[in-house]
Amino acid sequence: MRIGSVLLSLLLLGGCAQAGTMTVAGERQAAPPPRFGTPRHFDADLLRYRLAGTQLRLAGVRHGAPPRLPAVPPPRQVDCKRHKCVALTFDDGPAEFTGQVLDLLAAHRARATFFVLGQMITDETRGFVRRMASEGHELGNHSWDHASLAGLSPDALRRELERTQEAVLKETGVRMRLMRPPYGATNQTVDNETKQTGLAQVMWAVDTLDWLNRNPAVIAQRSAAAKPGDIVLMHDIHATTVQALPRLLDELDRKGFTYVTVSELLGDTTPGKKYTNR
Ligand code: NI
Repeated sequence: MRIGSVLLSLLLLGGCAQAGTMTVAGERQAAPPPRFGTPRHFDADLLRYRLAGTQLRLAGVRHGAPPRLPAVPPPRQVDCKRHKCVALTFDDGPAEFTGQVLDLLAAHRARATFFVLGQMITDETRGFVRRMASEGHELGNHSWDHASLAGLSPDALRRELERTQEAVLKETGVRMRLMRPPYGATNQTVDNETKQTGLAQVMWAVDTLDWLNRNPAVIAQRSAAAKPGDIVLMHDIHATTVQALPRLLDELDRKGFTYVTVSELLGDTTPGKKYTNR
């Protein structure tokens, strides 16, 4: 009995709130007059309406509406004839340290290029890919699973590149224009396929060998030896590379470098063609 009266009070309150919002919304004339005379009928409808709305909101939170694509800033016009430009590149991610790399780059107002593996884009890492795009970094295709492309049939090679193109496009809306062949392994078939796919092949001028020497001081030293116009190869999958970043960014800052993406460094690139520096 008591539960029944509490419920009735709630229904009545709901009815008052509904009448109130209608006048606030400026629909006084359109809104029906308060129907306190038949609270049970009126409020049952309202209650159903509110429950449905709550369920919809809960469902939205649970399943997530499809996230909007990140807003991607355009490449900057940097005159690398006048500025000391360097293009830092990070391969094989996105992975667990990628967020720290993005934080460090942001602290130095540095833009870089990430050559990502399609298979590394997961529920855990897709946020990093979206951050790369929204923070002005460039995304490049590093194949789906780090296959040596020079050993593949044209069909398998195309699939390696296309799957990663699609994965990045889905997360960011970005259609990548650059690729880096895993191990730097390329041949005529890779040349032809990248030309057809609209991807330039990006090699490097400075190899930090950060996968081999897991020593932050050594990695920072090699990276900071870059000359203006160089493309520097690193990997954001190694903790030691992340540990090297503060030192190498400080050193490159001291030398007056401007951090640019590969496309900002090279300008218009030709699909299929290989690039190592500016
Ligand atoms: Ni790689």
